[in-house]
Amino acid sequence: MRILVLHGPNLNLLGSREPALYGSDSLASIDTALRQQAVAIGVGLSSFQSNCEGALVDHIHAERDRTDGVLINAAAYTHSSIALRDALLATALPFVEVHLSNTHARESFRHRSLLADKAIGVICGFGPASYRLGLDGLVEALRTRGVV
Ligand code: DQA
Repeated sequence: MRILVLHGPNLNLLGSREPALYGSDSLASIDTALRQQAVAIGVGLSSFQSNCEGALVDHIHAERDRTDGVLINAAAYTHSSIALRDALLATALPFVEVHLSNTHARESFRHRSLLADKAIGVICGFGPASYRLGLDGLVEALRTRGVV
């Protein structure tokens, strides 16, 4: 089983970006922890971050044939990107949406997600642990569906 982790705009600045909201872990440390978790649960995993909507769409297209499921923190594109939603639907890749912060406890424009209604599930508010919980949930759901 191969999992693709996607990180949207400004997540490359994790660690120094608004630490009161997003914590002090860097994106590299989150990716390292996800890789270790993937080894422990026996799945393959690759990560990609971009600040550009089109690059994220292109990456989904490029990886679609070697990906079984997507773990995505689309960051601000969660609330705005029909293109990202369409890319996930066009490739029919099952996905779990994650956020470090509890978006529902923040500004009202963060309450709406253009991805959530098509996701297997959504996890938010647990800081970097949202990714760990999201990966566990995604792999469990894929195994239940019979993806090796
Ligand atoms: C975020 C929440 C989004 O609203 C915001 O635009 C981000 C990060 C999170 O992980 O909490 O960039 O996705």
